[in-house]
Amino acid sequence: MNIDELKSVADAIVAKQKGILAADESSPTIKKRFDSIGAESTEETRRRYREILFTTEGIERYISGVILYDETLRQSSGDGVPFPKLLSNRGILPGIKVDKGAKALALQPGNKITEGLDGLRDRLAEYKELGARFAKWRAVMEIDEYNVPSAYAIRANCHALARYAALCQEIDLVPIVEPEVLMDGGHDINRCEAVTSQMLESLFAELDAHGVQFEGTLLKPNMVIPGLKCPQKVSVQQVAEATVRCMQRYVPAAVPGIVFLSGGQSPEDATDHLNAMNAMKGNCPWQLSFSYGRALQAPVLSAWKGQESNVAEAQRAFFKRCQLNGLAREGLYSRAMEDS
Ligand code: 13P
Repeated sequence: MNIDELKSVADAIVAKQKGILAADESSPTIKKRFDSIGAESTEETRRRYREILFTTEGIERYISGVILYDETLRQSSGDGVPFPKLLSNRGILPGIKVDKGAKALALQPGNKITEGLDGLRDRLAEYKELGARFAKWRAVMEIDEYNVPSAYAIRANCHALARYAALCQEIDLVPIVEPEVLMDGGHDINRCEAVTSQMLESLFAELDAHGVQFEGTLLKPNMVIPGLKCPQKVSVQQVAEATVRCMQRYVPAAVPGIVFLSGGQSPEDATDHLNAMNAMKGNCPWQLSFSYGRALQAPVLSAWKGQESNVAEAQRAFFKRCQLNGLAREGLYSRAMEDS
């Protein structure tokens, strides 16, 4: 393990003004997104869509890294430049999603476990050959009124995250560890904070037990937010305060950055929450950044609709979201900017 290299890649990903584009939807997930805009999902339409994102002019000012899916890492631009090369030529670090998705956890109804550890060392070596500099593994926790997530499900998922992270660092790929508490359901913000706290406490204990170096690791958590069906609404400031408080309690200062997922928030809310955290962050030891999938791409998909004639409009929409999130990284965004 070369800790200096890991640290310098992690620091570059959370450089000022910058964050991550998560474009690592699996083929079934991107098909759902394409279905919603009436576009067909084929290897070529998926390639073209990702090319539209990656070739948008100016995004390198706000995007430090892109998480790719296996298929995309092996694809190229229309003029034959492999995507990892195209991104690195623009100063953007290519990353790769390496988990194999969440499956039902045996004997634990309602709980899931993320699979993909078998053979991971060899897959990571190949991904590194293909140009990846960092990786991502996502654990998912649903909240319900009863014993979900269970203490055992939390421990099992954090153990898997730690094994993945150690394998990444062994080969000098920066691991992004993603313990996602889902925002589906009717739970309130306090329950989200309690479950997120349990996840983070367990995660850092497992990472430490596996010898993972925090300085070369990035955390990708959910924000602390009520469930979508919760009747009690909260303010942007309440989300920012609860999220920063939770991170301050459980995330070691040695971690260079926290790159939040958007998790189904609207693009505007995701930007606003990130902005409020950066505006109030005071003496937080880590960078507070973004690793958004839907919150960066939803307006792009709506503008594109699978039509070549809409590419310029789609790229304008993408640039705007990148720029606004870049401003939110510094606490300089305001909702009024959405209309300009
Ligand atoms: P969302 O921002 O759409 O939640 O996606 C981020 C991600 O990479 C989920 O694994």
